[in-house]
Amino acid sequence: EKQGFKHYMLKEIYEQPGVFRAGLARYISEANHVQLGLPAGFIDSIERVEILACGTSWHASLIGKYLLEQVAGIPTTVQYASEYRYSPPPSLNNTLVIGVTQSGETADTLAALELAKSRGDRCLGITNRTESSIARVADAIIDTQAGIEIGVAATKTFIAQLLIFYLLALDFAARGKLTEVQIQEFIEGLRQLPAYMERILEGQERYIEDLSRLFTHTKDFIFLGRGINFPIALEGALKLKEISYIHAEGYPAGEMKHGPIALLDEDVPVVAIATPGAVYEKVLSNSQEAKARDAKLIGVAPIDDLAAHEVFDHILPIPIVDEIFSPVLTVIPLQLLSYHVAAHRGLDVDQPRNLAKSVTVE
Ligand code: F6R
Repeated sequence: EKQGFKHYMLKEIYEQPGVFRAGLARYISEANHVQLGLPAGFIDSIERVEILACGTSWHASLIGKYLLEQVAGIPTTVQYASEYRYSPPPSLNNTLVIGVTQSGETADTLAALELAKSRGDRCLGITNRTESSIARVADAIIDTQAGIEIGVAATKTFIAQLLIFYLLALDFAARGKLTEVQIQEFIEGLRQLPAYMERILEGQERYIEDLSRLFTHTKDFIFLGRGINFPIALEGALKLKEISYIHAEGYPAGEMKHGPIALLDEDVPVVAIATPGAVYEKVLSNSQEAKARDAKLIGVAPIDDLAAHEVFDHILPIPIVDEIFSPVLTVIPLQLLSYHVAAHRGLDVDQPRNLAKSVTVE
């Protein structure tokens, strides 16, 4: 069942390139067009998007917001389903509400989507279980088709959700924001990602396994990212706390000086996601500030960048891709790091305490 892997979580981390490829094969036509299988005209009159989700699905949704806004120019909000359901924002016309839930059974997400539906919004579900409860609530469903995920900590379903958001953003962008040539280039960029994901998995697992021994007794971790990688900092922190029970916080790197920097000392490692792009220099200088407080610095960064080598004590190398695609790669070393820290601590990685795969209670 685990095909030689010690835990389902590790197996599922390794399945991610295949999941991404299968998603591209299913949702991009032979003529290289996005075909998400939505009803005809489903997004035609849509002017804004509201996304509702919990946990890791909420993190994928934050990246979805970035893509919908930056690639397609569609104003987008992301709300915790548990918050939206008791304080929904004022209704606006031509809103698409998207519920994102791997299990399709998360009680808060279902209730929030039901509320949106009762208010007359068009509702879309993004799920890994097309036969689940969300199918009854949403007007249309997109299948993330990652295959059943057994590890409680979501990994491959997160990657699959990201792919759907890339494609949905392209679908919106095709209404005029991007030219056909730009869309083709974007699809080409997506097609290159699985090979890069494989390279990270093959090249780094040993190294991360060794590195993670340093943190067996660490009590607190900080994760920093900016822009499209800020949600990856949140996801890195969530993964680590879920399975290793180490306290971890994710912050937008620029916010550190507004409070969290007070936490830093030599016992609090900082993981910074520093990928070339609009905020690269900024993240490096935020990391430098952390280093000045004696924090041990781990960078998810390009291997042969001199500036990164100067700042970071350890580098988890990632290939250089257009910044817009980087979250698909940067999340992988963080998944491996949390996995190996938890495994070194001898914890039940696939069944962490107090957590369930489907949260069907409020
Ligand atoms: C993260 C995790 C949880 C879920 C959350 C939402 O590893 O397992 O945070 O992401 O409970 O679950 P779904 O996506 O099923 O609605």
